[in-house]
Amino acid sequence: MKTSITIDVAKCQKLLLEGELVAIPTETVYGLAANALDSKAVKRIFEMKGRPAFNPLIVHIHQMEQLPVLAKDIPQKAYDLAEAFWPGSLTLILPKQDIVPEIITGGKSTVGVRMPKHPLTQELLKGLPFPLAAPSANPFTRVSPTSAQHVWDYFGDRIPAILDGGPCQVGLESTIIGFDGEIPILYRKGGIPKEAIEAVVGELRVSTENETSPEAPGMLLKHYSPRTPLMVCDDIGEALKQYYDKRIGVLSFFEEDFPMATKVITLSKNKMMEEAAMSLFEALHTLDKSGLDLILAERFPEKGLGSSINDRLFRAQN
Ligand code: TXA
Ligand code: MG
Repeated sequence: MKTSITIDVAKCQKLLLEGELVAIPTETVYGLAANALDSKAVKRIFEMKGRPAFNPLIVHIHQMEQLPVLAKDIPQKAYDLAEAFWPGSLTLILPKQDIVPEIITGGKSTVGVRMPKHPLTQELLKGLPFPLAAPSANPFTRVSPTSAQHVWDYFGDRIPAILDGGPCQVGLESTIIGFDGEIPILYRKGGIPKEAIEAVVGELRVSTENETSPEAPGMLLKHYSPRTPLMVCDDIGEALKQYYDKRIGVLSFFEEDFPMATKVITLSKNKMMEEAAMSLFEALHTLDKSGLDLILAERFPEKGLGSSINDRLFRAQN
């Protein structure tokens, strides 16, 4: 198969209507999309990613009217969050309607729904008679793609098209919120900081570390992993001294000066957390291709997006 990296939305719509997979840009990360109402097409997503069947997929919509078609018993706080953050990096887990195929939800009675903000994907969704199921477009446990090139590096000619929307502007997967009745639960830290969610719905219950029976396997402890071993540390300069005989890559927040390192990537020289988040996965992809023995990643300040970045770094560490 010849994959096209394309900006031709109509061509991607045609492929999706035919039951094919298409990689799509979103503001968070690239997704591997198929018709959410077509179990056969959705099954191919799982096969392509090597993803276990118990790990459910997010369904992407473009207008609010689609939400009650997919989900029921929607608490007011879910509407408040949708109002505040959609379109954007927020996924809501809600009781599913019968129309949502079992394969999407991994047999669960709930469905994850998100309205993405990327204009190209909004245009794509508007011209389709169905919503799109899309996990991040990476093989299971690997680092999520934030450019069309990353998707191509992973899947090469195994998918017919990659809709190229440029580099992802948020760069971290969506924040996932579920509900126990009216009480909101944070399942995955992500592109919208916890504090911003709390400003809308009050305090959250946090449930991001349930390893044995993952509600959201974004929680699986090994996840987002480069092939190169990675270690999170507080003092990179000190850690470098221990590994003087190794080829070390450094991933730092804003400092640039690490003479003992083989390669240094600084995520935001101006200490801008949004910029750091946006550049994180690109940096991990680059370091992973640099023939290093070890990546030393600096721990971020544990607040706002820094907390979401730390989450990804800790899961990448293994
Ligand atoms: O930003 C994003 O969310 C990206 C873009 C493409 O939209 N998608 C993404 O999908 O990160 P994925 O499949 O890589 O991660 C989705 C997470 C998984 O951890 C999955 O377990 C969880 O959402 N999830 C989906 N439906 C769920 C459900 N019904 N109950 C609990 N967790 C659910
Ligand atoms: Mg993923």
